[in-house]
Amino acid sequence: MRLKDRVAIVTGGGGGMGEGISMCLAREGANVVVGDLQLEPAEKVAAKVRETGQKALAVRTDVRKAEDCKEMVDVTLKEMGRLDILICNAGVVGLPRDESADPPLIECIKEEDWDLVVDVNLKGVFLCNRAAAPHFKEQKSGRIINIASVAGRQGVELLAPYAATKAGVISLTQSVAFQMAPYHVNVNAVCPGIIWTPMWERIANYVSKSVPDFADTSPDSVYDFFVQAMIPFKKPQTPEDIGNAVVFLASDEASEITGQALNVCGGMKMN
Ligand SMILES: NC(=O)c1ccc[n+]([C@@H]2O[C@H](COP(=O)([O-])OP(=O)(O)OC[C@H]3O[C@@H](n4cnc5c(N)ncnc54)[C@H](O)[C@@H]3O)[C@@H](O)[C@H]2O)c1
Repeated sequence: MRLKDRVAIVTGGGGGMGEGISMCLAREGANVVVGDLQLEPAEKVAAKVRETGQKALAVRTDVRKAEDCKEMVDVTLKEMGRLDILICNAGVVGLPRDESADPPLIECIKEEDWDLVVDVNLKGVFLCNRAAAPHFKEQKSGRIINIASVAGRQGVELLAPYAATKAGVISLTQSVAFQMAPYHVNVNAVCPGIIWTPMWERIANYVSKSVPDFADTSPDSVYDFFVQAMIPFKKPQTPEDIGNAVVFLASDEASEITGQALNVCGGMKMN
């Protein structure tokens, strides 16, 4: 119970990794506010958190909207009485909707696809960090953990906008860590590797339908191919692997760690 009675917000908490993170936080004694664009999945995760004996609240939040991010923090303080941990996990991969469209090479990327991925993955992290910062400063304690990606360590051929946002999240994390250090607020990022969630399902579907080298390859086989080709441990990560890293960074054991980006990727990236 390393996080006993602390209160955490998890954005994108209704999704694959967000659920794993929420459950890991709850098992360590945290009460969890599950913020997500989609209320129904967020409510399901909140119900699972309650089954562990912890308090939980589902909030419909669009991290692209400043007023939603502020409201999520305000509701947390009102309903839960405190806020100790902010996990910015909401994200989109930004592949073209139309799988028969030209591959997302730089000259083909549509502005609307670029804008969506930047708005959710980078602006969304900024807006949530900004919404929580005054409270953490006043409280003189707190933890912010931004979910980046190994794609933020090095560009990715067919995920240029996504990789750019994740590099941005790592940089933003460092800047905010400097600003929050005088207030004893630790700000770190986690860089997951490859995890089978609705996001990776979408990538695998897209690759199997749109990338000629993978024609006639099932989405499952595409996923296995990338895991085997890119991860030294030869296995994917799980949402709980990421949740365990988040718990560590949120715990007292990580009190001397700030401004870092922790790869949780079976050695896929070592920088
Ligand atoms: N799955 C992976 O292999 C992987 C690897 C590295 C990093 N990540 C990152 O982990 C995070 C979670 O990814 P995932 O795989 O669980 O994705 P996912 O698509 O399964 O879940 C994302 C969640 O974010 C929510 N969301 C989307 N737009 C939102 C918005 N505007 N406001 C609030 N919520 C919104 C969705 O409703 C969903 O519940 C993302 O930031 C992603 O970039 C994932």
